[in-house]
Amino acid sequence: MPIACKLEVVRLENDMKKSLFVKRAQLVSLINLIAQSGIIVTGAVVRLTGSGLGCPTWPNCAPGSLVPVASQVEGFHKYIEFGNRLLTFVVLFASVALLITAVISKVKKLNIWSALPLLGTLLQAILGGITVLTGLNPFTVMFHFLLSIILVAISTLIYRFWSKDKPLKINSSIIRNYIKFFTLSGFIVIILGTITTGSGPHSGDEIATRFNIDTRTIAWIHADSVLLFIGLLIGLILFVKTNKELNSLTRLLNSLIILCLIQGLIGYTQWFTNLPWILVGFHVLGSVLIWINLMLIFEKSIYSLKNSIKQI
Ligand code: HEM
Repeated sequence: MPIACKLEVVRLENDMKKSLFVKRAQLVSLINLIAQSGIIVTGAVVRLTGSGLGCPTWPNCAPGSLVPVASQVEGFHKYIEFGNRLLTFVVLFASVALLITAVISKVKKLNIWSALPLLGTLLQAILGGITVLTGLNPFTVMFHFLLSIILVAISTLIYRFWSKDKPLKINSSIIRNYIKFFTLSGFIVIILGTITTGSGPHSGDEIATRFNIDTRTIAWIHADSVLLFIGLLIGLILFVKTNKELNSLTRLLNSLIILCLIQGLIGYTQWFTNLPWILVGFHVLGSVLIWINLMLIFEKSIYSLKNSIKQI
């Protein structure tokens, strides 16, 4: 075979290996994103079913035992809380796989980013323990939730790094600042939501303390922040409609407005029906989906790892 042909075969083989690796990396980063998001919802189910102290101690579930024991008085709650503790290992496994993928790819800065979900998960295991040992203090419950939300944001950025899609180049500083403010307002909605939860009835156990805030007032402030967020979203949708260069944001903006309307409906319905736990569970799921959607918009328009890290 002539040398030029041989070189071409080697090049093709390398390309195939690279694209197979990228496909695997996409899958691993997606699994990590699902795991980091899923544990927020399962954690909420623990709280909403009153199982927060189903394992009253940590790291043991019952005194002297890592797993639930028949003599425990916590009934089915011990299995729910213990099940969620086991899910931590799934998240841990996914975040280790993510870091290994980054190390194999030899993309230097990506190692640092991909180490964050693993470090965060270890921190969450400790924070989860502190939450139990402080009798479900609403501050620790709130930070437990918010740290996971940050890990979901980082995991979304890493997932997007491995995709083929290209980020947008927005030159207008007004639009860039608008989208940054819009993203911040989404984060504030979530923080206010966690404060509402901390003052509401779903503490995770009857003995848990609550924030000394009137639930009605904070729920209303939370709902008002949602109105601001949706107003900013409508503004962005209208702007994108009149600006062809931003057209590729349309699909993400449309899915976000639909999610927000469903979420708003769940929010008001749960409020007027005395917060049934199943609806609150869907509200938590909705907030995670909205957050991922928001981060996808942020990644496409403001900050993409593809711009700050050289791709393989
Ligand atoms: C974009 C829309 C919305 C988002 C992203 C959102 C997000 C959240 C989040 C993250 C929580 C905390 C969950 C937890 O700590 O486990 C929460 C709680 C809550 N939200 Fe919303 N929310 C939205 C709309 C609304 C609306 C329109 C209302 C209407 C009043 C509402 C009422 C509540 C209530 C009452 C709670 C406390 C539930 C509990 O006791 O656990 N939300 N929300």
